[in-house]
Amino acid sequence: LFPLFALALLVLVSGLLGVGVLSHVEEMKSQERLFLRSLGLHGRPTPTGSRQARRQVPSALWKMFRRSEDMQAQDSDPCTVAEYGVRGNIIRYVQDQGRLVSSWSDVCQDCLEKRLFFNMSALQPVELLSLAQLEVQFHWKPLKSAELLQGPRAVSISLYKVIRTTLKGADPQVNRRLLLSQSVQLQPEPTSITLDVTSLAESWRKPGHNYGLVLELLPLSVEPDEFISFHTGKSHHIELAHNLPLVQATLVAVSLNPQQCRSRQRRSTVHLPVTPSNVCKARRLYIDFRDVGWQGWIIAPQGYMANYCHGECPFPLSESLNGTNHAILQTLVHSLDPHGTPQPCCVPIRLSPISMLYYDNNDNVVLQHYQDMVVDECGCR
Ligand SMILES: *[C@@H]1O[C@H](CO)[C@@H](O)[C@H](O)[C@H]1NC(C)=O
Ligand SMILES: *[C@@H]1O[C@H](CO)[C@@H](O)[C@H](O)[C@H]1NC(C)=O
Repeated sequence: LFPLFALALLVLVSGLLGVGVLSHVEEMKSQERLFLRSLGLHGRPTPTGSRQARRQVPSALWKMFRRSEDMQAQDSDPCTVAEYGVRGNIIRYVQDQGRLVSSWSDVCQDCLEKRLFFNMSALQPVELLSLAQLEVQFHWKPLKSAELLQGPRAVSISLYKVIRTTLKGADPQVNRRLLLSQSVQLQPEPTSITLDVTSLAESWRKPGHNYGLVLELLPLSVEPDEFISFHTGKSHHIELAHNLPLVQATLVAVSLNPQQCRSRQRRSTVHLPVTPSNVCKARRLYIDFRDVGWQGWIIAPQGYMANYCHGECPFPLSESLNGTNHAILQTLVHSLDPHGTPQPCCVPIRLSPISMLYYDNNDNVVLQHYQDMVVDECGCR
C-alpha cells in the first residue's frame, strides 16, 4: 500500500508543480502581450533574415534616436519631432512591399513600372498621422567606367496614385492620377527624391482604400547594349535591356499617440545613491532586453536603467518620503495597530520616458518615445 500512496503523492505533487510552472509561463506571456499591445504590436516581432541581412536602420533614424536620448536629459517636449517640425512620438520607416511590374506594359513602351505599396495597418487607430513623406532612392551602378566618363545620366520619372484596381484588359491609365513628373540626374552616389504624401497616406489607413502608387522610369538616353537592374523590394534583380538604377522606396510616417504623450517630463540626471537603507526610495535596476528574450527585435537600446521602488514607509513619515495626507494618516494608524492596518506602499511617483528603436510586425523600423519606462522618484502612498 505504501508505494502506491507514495506514487499517488508524487503524481499529485508533480501535478501541482506542473500547473505552477505552466501558469507562470502563461503569466509571463500575458505580461508580454500587454506590453507589446501598448507598443501597437500584435505579437513579439520576428524580423526575417539574419542580423546582417535584416533591414538596415536608416542613418537619419539613428541620428534622431541619439538626439532623443540626449534630449531626455534636458527639458524638451517628447511629443514633437524637431527634424520634421511636426507633432509626434512615433517615427516609422514603412517598407515598400510593391513589386516590379516585370515586362513592358501597354501603357509604357520603353519604360519600367514599379508598384509601391505601404501597409498602413502598422499605425494603430488611436494614432494621429502628422506627416508621411515618400522617399525614393535611385542607386545607379555604371557597368563600365566608360559610362562614368560620359557624365551624369538622366531618367524621367512619373509617380501616380492608383485610385482603384484595374480589371484585366482595361486601360490602367484611367485608374491613375499623376502626382509627380520630373527628371532625375543619376550619379554613382545614391540620388533621392522626397514627396509629402500625408493626405494620401491618411486615406490609405481606411481598410480597402490602399491601392498604392506606380512609379514609371524612362531612360532619357537609351543605348542598345546596356543593362537594367531593378530592385523589387525583396532584393530581387531583373536584368533588362537598359541601364536603369535600382529603386528603393520608403515611407517615413510620423504619428502621435496621444495616450503616450502626457505632460512635459524631465529625466532626473541625479544618480541614485547606493547607500543601504530600509526606507522607501528608488533603487537601481538595469533591465537588459536579452534577459527577457527581446534582443531580436529591439534594436536599441540593448537595455536601460529602469530602477524600482522599495523600502518601508515608517512612522513618522518624513517629508522626503513624499507621502500623501492619506499615507501620513495610514502610518499613524499603523503605528497604533500594526496588525490591523499595513504601512503605506513605496511606489513610483514620477516616471520618465525612453526612446526605443525596434522592428515591428512588418519588419518596419520604428522609433518610439515610450512613456513611463524609468522610475525617477518614489513615495509612500
Ligand atoms: C498589412 O499588415 C497586416 C498586419 O500587420 C496584415 O494582416 C495585412 O494582411 C497586410 N496587408 C497587406 C495588403 O499586405
Ligand atoms: C521625493 O521627492 C523629492 C523631490 O520632489 C526627491 O528628491 C526625493 O528623492 C523623493 N523621495 C523618494 C523616496 O524618492
